[in-house]
Amino acid sequence: MELQTQRRLRQELLDFIDNRSTDYASDVMRVDPAVYYDPDYLKEEFEVVFGDNPVIVAHHSELTEPGDFLTVDVAGTPLIVVRQDDGSVKAFANACRHRGAKVELAESGRRRMFACPYHKWCYSRDGGIRSIPFDDGFVGLDRNEVGLVEYPAVEYAGFIWSKAKPGTELDIPAYIGSELEKDVVASKVADAKLYQKRTFHLDMNWKVVMDGFTDAYHLQFVHPETVGPFFHTNIYKCDIYDKNWRMTVARRGVVDFRDSDLTDGEFPKYAIAGLQFYPGNIIARAPAHFEVWAIRPNPEDLSKCVVTLWFMVDELPVSDKAKRFREKNWEIVLKAVEGEDWVVAKTVTDVLPHSNVPDLFFGRNEKATQHLHQTIARDIEAARAKEATA
Ligand code: FES
Ligand SMILES: [Fe+2]
Repeated sequence: MELQTQRRLRQELLDFIDNRSTDYASDVMRVDPAVYYDPDYLKEEFEVVFGDNPVIVAHHSELTEPGDFLTVDVAGTPLIVVRQDDGSVKAFANACRHRGAKVELAESGRRRMFACPYHKWCYSRDGGIRSIPFDDGFVGLDRNEVGLVEYPAVEYAGFIWSKAKPGTELDIPAYIGSELEKDVVASKVADAKLYQKRTFHLDMNWKVVMDGFTDAYHLQFVHPETVGPFFHTNIYKCDIYDKNWRMTVARRGVVDFRDSDLTDGEFPKYAIAGLQFYPGNIIARAPAHFEVWAIRPNPEDLSKCVVTLWFMVDELPVSDKAKRFREKNWEIVLKAVEGEDWVVAKTVTDVLPHSNVPDLFFGRNEKATQHLHQTIARDIEAARAKEATA
């Protein structure tokens, strides 16, 4: 983030603290609870929102050598993501062109080629068909036609991004926008090292998880002993850039920086900035680490979702002391989400469908959460309008 932006954010956060205020949306937002459980709505939302927006699928260090691959579910689309001989990455549907069996069953590894277990059709790393056993049975088949179906895969900011629709076009800087791209570049997340990665399968709609990540209002209530004491509850700035936004939450120490000249690198000491890329990608800078999150629905059951966390550090710990420090940070994050956020959040998915609650109300102090829900509603409206005129 540019120094000028850091200074502007510091001043805004201090003004909020001084005035017992925060970054308010213009109105309270009334939300139909059915957006969390109505199966028809959720299906429509899933198609519109996740069909065409990118999802972070891997850190580059998970695929270092040609042939390194991982298999991942991108909002229901099973993909093989594989490092190519020229160093680029490609993604393919993990589905055989013969009769549709799953080609690669392992979660990760290194392969010269991918062999379907059913009749051993073999595919090269670049997705092309390489061999077909007893190929007399396929005389006349055009081999150019039977490569694995390609999906977009691009490397940006140290991560591999893909999406749930086939094709190869994916322009992440354009999707992120110039303002937030400056933040991504300045954060140096691209140089960070992967310390831990974990994927969580959660019994809640994906929006419930995102609602938590867009919320500075719950901090002292849900996290009184973990992350809550580090922050000012309800003091945050939400800068919106088209569908994406930067959510900056004031750390307790911000008041100590009131008169500082501010030098580069100080920002994480007084605020945590989460760059949130619609619909469910987050890059957040904490004082001593980055958290990169990817949240996506489970299309078979939209009351469930899958969340991946990449916990990134500037330098991997070497000494025992450094290792203990990292491990403690990692455990605090796990405790805050698994033991606190998601315990409360799960109850939303559990009780709302059975409670006859007519409306929910997102406050003016929940600007980022409002923005997420408004953007989803706008996307769905636009898709309906397009359908109506088609
Ligand atoms: S289904 Fe893959 S080789 Fe037959
Ligand atoms: Fe939380």
